Amino acid sequence: MKQGIYVGSATGQIGYALVPMIARGIMLGPDQPVILHMLDIEPAAESLNALKMELIDAAFPLLKGVVATTDVVEACKGVNIAVMVGGFRRKEGMERKDVMAKNVSIYKAQASALEKHAAADCKVLVVANPANTNALILKEFAPSIPEKNITCLIRLDHNRALGQIADKLDVQVSDVKNVIIWGNHSSTQYPDVNHATVTTSSGEKSVRELIADDHWLSSEFITTVQQRGAAIIKARKLSSALSAASAACDHIHDWVLGTPKGTWVSMGVYSDGSYGIQPGLIYSFPVTCEKGNWSIVKGLKINEFSRAKMDTTAEELAEEKSLAYSCLN
Ligand SMILES: NC(=O)c1ccc[n+]([C@@H]2O[C@H](COP(=O)([O-])OP(=O)(O)OC[C@H]3O[C@@H](n4cnc5c(N)ncnc54)[C@H](O)[C@@H]3O)[C@@H](O)[C@H]2O)c1
Repeated sequence: MKQGIYVGSATGQIGYALVPMIARGIMLGPDQPVILHMLDIEPAAESLNALKMELIDAAFPLLKGVVATTDVVEACKGVNIAVMVGGFRRKEGMERKDVMAKNVSIYKAQASALEKHAAADCKVLVVANPANTNALILKEFAPSIPEKNITCLIRLDHNRALGQIADKLDVQVSDVKNVIIWGNHSSTQYPDVNHATVTTSSGEKSVRELIADDHWLSSEFITTVQQRGAAIIKARKLSSALSAASAACDHIHDWVLGTPKGTWVSMGVYSDGSYGIQPGLIYSFPVTCEKGNWSIVKGLKINEFSRAKMDTTAEELAEEKSLAYSCLN
């Protein structure tokens, strides 16, 4: 059966990198036909049409249809997966509350259209920042979408952490697994390698033991991952796009098709109180996925250093949540 994939704000940087990946089967696999449902705002209507033309010209065998529209209801009809990329960026002199209020209004229309017109089991991934809190807002305006179906993108940070470890150890990134990003997709996130391993010729080894440099792991490694987005902006004068699009594909791919046995990934999901994180926040946890469902990995040992960092990022999320809810009134 064809899968309808909604990309909310398709003509932006991430959207432009993401749609060809979806059409090539990177998100749902090489055997899954897809229909792209692309939305953008009126000023981007011509670019949206050009994007549709390019998708037709690329002759992707898996692409069975393209809906390109500025009508949110038309865009959301029957979709199985929704990737929310559109957002309002903070401009100089703007207060955080004003930016939040803009994002609340953007999410309102898309959320209620998804609730009414998407497939009943539609899976939602929020990419636009503040991603965790935008996902909460979406739920507010789409109360009938189950909490389990609303997530936010932390996979980019997870992949960045894998990349930093592979680079430090001079190993293939595909041999590193089970890093964790805890918390918010912001600079308070906590990249944790305490449970991460590397596959070597003599079996699986602990990342911490192989690196044998606790100081680097508890300082430079963490700040490099936390600040990677800012480093890309400084170097490129634009924010990360292809890595964000690729991470969005990884997120949905693993959610729908499952994580490999013994491997977990980081996803922003509703807290159920695991690891002492206040329920009702969308917080990044290590999760495994099977048959289209994610479950938080339970029972990992948390040391004092990790505890403090996990709490700091949770506090920031609680504060963002109250700011967002103050914009709802
Ligand atoms: N979670 C992550 O890992 C991650 C990583 C990178 C970027 N991001 C975020 O993703 C978002 C998109 O990034 P980008 O680089 O593609 O941005 P961009 O500015 O290139 O594109 C933004 C898109 O939003 C649309 N848009 C603008 N105002 C809108 C409105 N009022 N309603 C609906 N759509 C509107 C634009 O037409 C455009 O298509 C940003 O919020 C960015 O901060 C998140």
